[in-house]
Amino acid sequence: MEPKDFKLAVLVSGRGSNLQAIIDSIERGELPGARVALVLSDVAEAPALKRASRHGIETRVVDPKAFAGKIEFNQAMVEAIQARGADLVCLAGFMRILGKGFIEAFRGRIVNIHPSLLPAFPGLHPQQQALDYGVKISGCTVHFVDETVDGGAVILQSAVPVLEEDDAGRLAARILEQEHLLYPRAIRLFMEGRLTLTGRKALIKEN
Ligand code: GRF
Repeated sequence: MEPKDFKLAVLVSGRGSNLQAIIDSIERGELPGARVALVLSDVAEAPALKRASRHGIETRVVDPKAFAGKIEFNQAMVEAIQARGADLVCLAGFMRILGKGFIEAFRGRIVNIHPSLLPAFPGLHPQQQALDYGVKISGCTVHFVDETVDGGAVILQSAVPVLEEDDAGRLAARILEQEHLLYPRAIRLFMEGRLTLTGRKALIKEN
């Protein structure tokens, strides 16, 4: 049986290394049937857009300054994503908080990756927050997105030791290596229909 056509919309604002990890995983055949149908950025100069173009992926810039307000900006993103028929919306370094209208349009179908073991250190600069707090272990989390900031149900996590000689950059680089492995695995679970949202828990069905 042919794997079904599973369309991802990836939202970015910057570098795009997680986008690249998703693309590479698809190209290695690890996400059978998946393709990135759209890369959407709120930043016209985001290097992630070049990565997408190099792989022949459609890109779209939605500039918040071009809209009357947040509701209109969110609506424009919703329309762009719906027009491509995306099955899953992946936030990959997208640096804006999504509005209620956006969350409602894709409820249960939006995921994000965050470079800490949530619920520790949500928001900005989580690697620096981990160092400042003095934790010995940090890591990364893929979670469903709801109205809260980095507070939706956890799908997968990966732990990374914090070393005494770490600064935020070194810790971020080691966490990033794990992010690149974790995000495609979480997408695969979603594609295979193995995730069930129960209350605030994402349960994973065994194969
Ligand atoms: C990653 O650390 C991700 O966890 C966070 O923002 C960063 C994006 O990096 N949400 P990149 O653009 O994927 O390289």
